[in-house]
Formats: sequence, C-alpha cells, structure tokens
Amino acid sequence: MSAGIFRRNLLPGESALICVVAGDDAAPEVVWPTVEVLRRLVPELHFVEGCSGREAEKRYGEVFPQETRELIDRAVCTLFGASGGPSRPVLWYLRWGKDTRVNVRPVRWQPGYRSPLREPEHVDFVIVRDNLEGMYPPREGDLAELTALASSRSWWQPPPVERKGAYAVRICTDEQMASVAEAACELALQRKTQGYAGRVTLGAKYSIQPRTDGRFREIVRETVRRYAELEYQEFLIDDLARRMVAVPESLDVVVLSNEHGDILADMAAGCIGGLGLAPSGCYGPTYAYFEPVHGSAPDLAGKGVINPTAMLLSGAMLLDYLGYEESARRLRAAIAEVYRHGQVLPPDQGGTATTAAFVEAVTQLL
Ligand code: NAD
Ligand code: IPM
Ligand code: MN
Repeated sequence: MSAGIFRRNLLPGESALICVVAGDDAAPEVVWPTVEVLRRLVPELHFVEGCSGREAEKRYGEVFPQETRELIDRAVCTLFGASGGPSRPVLWYLRWGKDTRVNVRPVRWQPGYRSPLREPEHVDFVIVRDNLEGMYPPREGDLAELTALASSRSWWQPPPVERKGAYAVRICTDEQMASVAEAACELALQRKTQGYAGRVTLGAKYSIQPRTDGRFREIVRETVRRYAELEYQEFLIDDLARRMVAVPESLDVVVLSNEHGDILADMAAGCIGGLGLAPSGCYGPTYAYFEPVHGSAPDLAGKGVINPTAMLLSGAMLLDYLGYEESARRLRAAIAEVYRHGQVLPPDQGGTATTAAFVEAVTQLL
C-alpha cells in the first residue's frame, strides 16, 4: 500500500459522485448542512443520498437496502453521519465491504475551542487507527467452546471452562498491521513537509500481548526504519494515554490498534474541547469514507444544537481526498475564524448558537 490511499485522483471527465449516508439520531442534523457547505465550495460535486436505518426500513423494508449499497459502490467516496444502531450494517459495509483499512483522526486545538487543558495550544497530532481488525468485528463465544485450547495451554490454569462465561477473539494480521504502519509513515512524511516533527509514535500493550501487540511493534519499527526522514518512539498504551494529556507536544502521528484508537480518539477529542470538534477519514486501497469521531448523539436529536464542526472538518478531509485542497483550506479557515471571534458558538463550546446559526456563520466567511 502507498501514499495513494489518502488521495483519489479523478479521471479526466469523471464526475465526483459522493454518496451521503446521514445515519441515525442527531447525525443527519450535521450531515445535511455539511453537504450544503461542500456544494457551495465545489459546485461540481454531485451528492446522492444512500438511505439507511429506520428511514430505509420504512421505504425499502430493510435498514441497508441494495439500492444504498449500489450507490456507495458507484460513488468515489461516502460521507457518513453516525450509526446509533439501525445504520450499523451500512457502517460495517463501509469498513469491511469497502476495505477502508486505515482510520485517520486528527486532533488539533484552535483558539475558541473549549479545552479543559491549561495549555491546549500544544495539542496537534493525528491518530492513525486500524479500522478492520483487533476485536472488530465482534467474535465472541461461550467459554465452554475453549476446552481444547485450555487443555493445550499451560498458562491457563486452572482451566476456567467449567465456569460460566464468555471469550472474545482478537485478530491481528501482518498484512493489516503493515498497512496501518505504512499509512502512518506516509502521513508523517506528508506532515513533515508542513513543518511537523516527522515522528511516528506507537502505543500498544506489547508487554502483555507479545504475539499481537508485540508483532505490531515489530512491524511498525521495521516500517519506520525504511523511512530515513522519520523518527520513532513507542510507549505502552496506558503510558501513552497519560502522555496525550500531559505532553501532547511530543506527539505527531500516533499509530494504534482498533480498540485502543477508538478509546483514545474520544479521550483526545475531550482534550481539545469535546466530540463536536473531532473529524475522521477512513481510507483503503480503492475507497474512502468520512465520518466524525462522535456517534449519533441521541441525547441531542431533534434539538438543533449538535455541533457540526466535526462533520464539517470531516467534509474538509473529503475535499482533500478528491484533490480540492484549496476549498478544504477555505473551509478550515472559515471554521477557525468563527471560533476565533467566539460570537457564534454551539452550546458544547459555551455558546448558545444553534447548529444552523453556526453553519450560517461559517458559510458567510467562505
Ligand atoms: P456519542 O459520541 O454519540 O455521544 C457522546 C456524548 O458526546 C453525548 O453527550 C453527546 O451529546 C456528545 N456529542 C457527540 N457528538 C456531539 C456533537 N457533534 N456536538 C455536541 N455534542 C456531541 O456517543 P454515545 O452516546 O456513546 O453513542 C451513541 C450512539 O452512537 C451509540 O449507538 C454508539 O454505538 C454510536 N456511535 C457510532 C459511531 C459511528 O457511527 N462511527 C461512533 C461512535 C458512537
Ligand atoms: C467509532 C465508533 C465505532 C467503533 C462503533 C460505532 C462500532 O465508536 O467509529 O469510533 O467502535 O469503531
Ligand atoms: Mn468510537
């Protein structure tokens, strides 16, 4: 895999068809305004709605109709809101069906973000998360199924199989770990040209899980070694969590397993001011989709106050993917300006602005 996963070059005359899957609960409230902003920035983009969840159940009798799958396939990429449950089959398809192996989650504070940290200006790193393996998709079973394993493993004493309980399986293939490691290196290289340190940091539990996280460490080390321009550091995952809060300036590109990346991305979002601010992009060899780090925020559904920043910034990542870097830059600059002024902020950032008022303020500055 190469740097190519972060960029989809449109063929001459190819129309940039983008599938929009709005998702559940409050997610559509940030998705549709984002589509409007992207349309305004790049009028030649063509958006089609992929119906999912409850709405699809009503219209097509199933939460993930064939029509939506075909639209996702026809599009060059997908903009996804979030799944609160009903849209999970679509999310699963976007990940495993479309082989979007690498999840990139930038974490950057900017003036106006309501961070709980004393010096949030140092928070500016990117999490590169395995998007396909580890304990995903869930594979769980009854402990009794492990009888054979229990009798062949000396460390498992006394065999707990007579007790009632369950197990979960974690899968880590060399190929996937190498894809994630390579993507992290390519991103670090790209960021180095923008003035960042060119430093890849691995966080994992290699002390306790040598076959999985230990192998991940080996693979990331070997991969970074091939990039003379890059630095490398590694920490046990628990210590890395502390470092994200205490010394975020020491981080540039952080490479993590699926579940570690899931958890630490929310924590990192908390460090800059909350989930309303954290975008993400999921990339594979032939497809990408863009979604915020946050979920469907059911507690905010229907209130018109969900912060659209994370979704808008995910839209900016989509523009970068398709080569509209200047439009992406304009969008990020407009968002930064609204926060710098501090006059029109959503409730999670200490303001009283509605979602619509915030998007309007951004639109005025495009
Ligand atoms: P959540 O991210 O939806 O919400 C957590 C908290 O953050 C809530 O208080 C919510 O109001 C707040 N929040 C989230 N986004 C916000 C925004 N844009 N602006 C302001 N506040 C925001 O997580 P949850 O409550 O643990 O999960 C709700 C549902 O979302 C669950 O079904 C979960 O599985 C799902 N989920 C889906 C995805 C995804 O589709 N990629 C990601 C995370 C969670
Ligand atoms: C995320 C979410 C998902 C995950 C859920 C909805 C499956 O938390 O994208 O961060 O765990 O990957
Ligand atoms: Mn998550």
